[in-house]
Amino acid sequence: MPVSGPPRVWGAGSLGKGLIAHASRPRRVYRWDLPPAEPAARLRSGRVDEVARVMTELRRSDLAPDPFAQFDAWYRDALAAHVVAPDAMTLATASKECLPSARMVLLKGYDRRGFVFYTNYESQKGRELAENPHAALVFYWAELHRQIRIAGRVTMLPREESERYFASRPLGSRLGAWASHQSEVIASRQVLEERVRAVRARFADGNVPLPPYWGGYVVAPVEFEFWQGRPDRLHDRFRYTLQPDHTWLIQRLSP
Ligand SMILES: Cc1cc2nc3c(=O)[nH]c(=O)nc-3n(C[C@H](O)[C@H](O)[C@H](O)COP(=O)(O)O)c2cc1C
Repeated sequence: MPVSGPPRVWGAGSLGKGLIAHASRPRRVYRWDLPPAEPAARLRSGRVDEVARVMTELRRSDLAPDPFAQFDAWYRDALAAHVVAPDAMTLATASKECLPSARMVLLKGYDRRGFVFYTNYESQKGRELAENPHAALVFYWAELHRQIRIAGRVTMLPREESERYFASRPLGSRLGAWASHQSEVIASRQVLEERVRAVRARFADGNVPLPPYWGGYVVAPVEFEFWQGRPDRLHDRFRYTLQPDHTWLIQRLSP
């Protein structure tokens, strides 16, 4: 399923209503430097209660035998519920010394091969993936009290596919990909803006090709976990693990 369009903001979806009401109340400020005080604790439990209204259960009999179908069903639920940025996911990678790093990226599509995102191949994540092609993804959809974890092996998308996607991006994003040496130290904002001006002049005809160091990755899952928040922290968790015969083993995990 291709994932497109801007991230959604709070919508009028019925599943989000409790949280919209909550958001419109006078704001209380958390003070992270103090131990949780009474008001913060009340605020927290109030939020949980509101989320609980949209909590549902996840039973073994609800699960699709195929985790891709299960992901698709939950992704469609997230779209229908107008959750904020349903396509935003945490991507965790690790260096060859096993030092982990994580950051957000946007899901740009999923199919039988896996889950696709685009980036600079020379960024920190790109360098780590070149030396250690294992990665993990996490989606968290607060409005539905759902989390999905995916772990798998990462490969680069075929170049033509990245080219097609790159050509569909707005001009500013395409120029930005040429101007930014992602994850490198830069002296100032001015240097970046100067690079953008230079790139704009270089591609004055608006024909901006895919940079050689930019493109897509696909995470081919070997494991999925679907987590449904339940009251009293007695959440439902189901893990799918890919078996040598290419079937998926489904197991319930303790919350
Ligand atoms: C919601 C969100 C979505 C993002 N999507 C992407 C993305 O799709 N690709 C990307 O390269 N960076 C994306 N970023 C920026 C990354 O989080 C990160 O700063 C950048 O990729 C450099 O990461 P690295 O130094 O670990 O390689 C996104 C950031 C946020 C907050």
